[in-house]
Amino acid sequence: MRVRIPAKPPKGFRGREASRPPIMQLVKLGGSVLTDKARVTTLRPGHLRRLAGEIARSGEDLIVVHGAGSFGHIKALRHGLHQGYVNDDQIPAVAEVQRDVRVLNLAVLDAFRRAGLRPVSLPPSAIARMEDGALRYLDLEGFRMYRDLGFTPVTFGDVVLDTRRWFSICSGDLLMLALAEAFRPKSAIFVADVDGVYTADPKRVKSAKLLREVRPDTLSMVDTRSSEAHDVTGGLEGKLRRMITVAQYTDRCLLLNGLKKGRLVAALRDERVVATRVTP
Ligand code: IPE
Repeated sequence: MRVRIPAKPPKGFRGREASRPPIMQLVKLGGSVLTDKARVTTLRPGHLRRLAGEIARSGEDLIVVHGAGSFGHIKALRHGLHQGYVNDDQIPAVAEVQRDVRVLNLAVLDAFRRAGLRPVSLPPSAIARMEDGALRYLDLEGFRMYRDLGFTPVTFGDVVLDTRRWFSICSGDLLMLALAEAFRPKSAIFVADVDGVYTADPKRVKSAKLLREVRPDTLSMVDTRSSEAHDVTGGLEGKLRRMITVAQYTDRCLLLNGLKKGRLVAALRDERVVATRVTP
């Protein structure tokens, strides 16, 4: 069935355009900040509350993507969901992981509403399709219409139907890429649990240095080997490659530390902040 999209807004409609300029920013709240990645389905409520407050305080027009953290990666890895369909035993696990990531999403929506935002959820399991692990379709019209009405669209890493593999993991980073390509945001900000991109894993290597900028030709300076333990979506290397592609569609692509108070709001307001800038 084709749904008619209203050509004109309803009478009396003021919407977003009346109050704010149509310049948008994309934010990905990484699962490593929102959840304890080592403990299954464990939220970090304090960080979530603070980040929701920072987003609301910025007053910026945003689309928010969040990762799955321990609400997704642990069970997805245990049942090999990143390989697509292998056997029937995975089916209950797909249902369970889809349920778990929605529990996390609900916590994000609640925190956003309490902070004064008007979030709406756009679950990829319902509005996206993949093909052999690549995102092939995303209902962008939904994002557009909710934004026009002044909502903050929120989507998240999920298990999604795949036309070749039956199902695939759709990471928040893949969603960032699709949304950046479609909306050409003013900036794309990736919120993680480290200050930015280091030459090596700063949690293990003391001499690791923070890089202020990463470009395709400086990627070889980054040692990404130790980052993949609990990750079914490609680890740091995959993440950096996707960020470089995202950077093609925005003026400013940043990776910053969401555990440090005030960094996200500063970045959203275009103030100077400790971060790594990724350029195409
Ligand atoms: C992963 O999403 C989705 C699932 C495992 C279901 P992300 O890859 O975006 O999550 P984080 O940010 O790394 O936790």
